[in-house]
Amino acid sequence: MNEEPNKPCEKSCAREGKKTNRRDFLLAAGFGLNAIAAAAIGIPLIGYVLSAFFKPSRLEWIKLGPVRDFPEGKTRFASYENPVRREWDGETAQIPCWVRRIKGNEFQVFAINCTHLGCPVRWFEESKLFMCPCHGGAFYEDGGHAAGPPPRGLYTYEFKVENGVLFIKGGDLPNLSNQKI
Ligand code: FES
Repeated sequence: MNEEPNKPCEKSCAREGKKTNRRDFLLAAGFGLNAIAAAAIGIPLIGYVLSAFFKPSRLEWIKLGPVRDFPEGKTRFASYENPVRREWDGETAQIPCWVRRIKGNEFQVFAINCTHLGCPVRWFEESKLFMCPCHGGAFYEDGGHAAGPPPRGLYTYEFKVENGVLFIKGGDLPNLSNQKI
């Protein structure tokens, strides 16, 4: 007896039910796709940020040569093999630097790259200056900034002398993040 008044609802209710189901499905699919997109962008981003904290140091002591190869009061060109080299690096694995022996075991070892945009600087004994060929940057013999656009002096390597041999800490090029000054 009560069935009769419900009859008109059957069709529209079923349609409404279908609509709700479709809306729920689309909503769930939208959330799902957004979650996948957020994960695709967010996970590598978080990994990149966190990797800086968990990255093992690549720095190690590298032999540069016997102290006697570097005369007192002079600045000499030297190079060392990058400890993180790969097979296909070839000659690029040889990292150049400038070694200044002040006296005895007192040294300064400079990264060759200008602190402006990274061009290799050259040492001029006559003027006692490092000169950058790119934009005219100049540095004093102690690496201090003398002229031109570079914002600071040359970067220096940490060094030590053991049994008459000069070592530097290499693996990462000296830069603002690993300089004491
Ligand atoms: S790269 Fe040396 S002055 Fe610009």
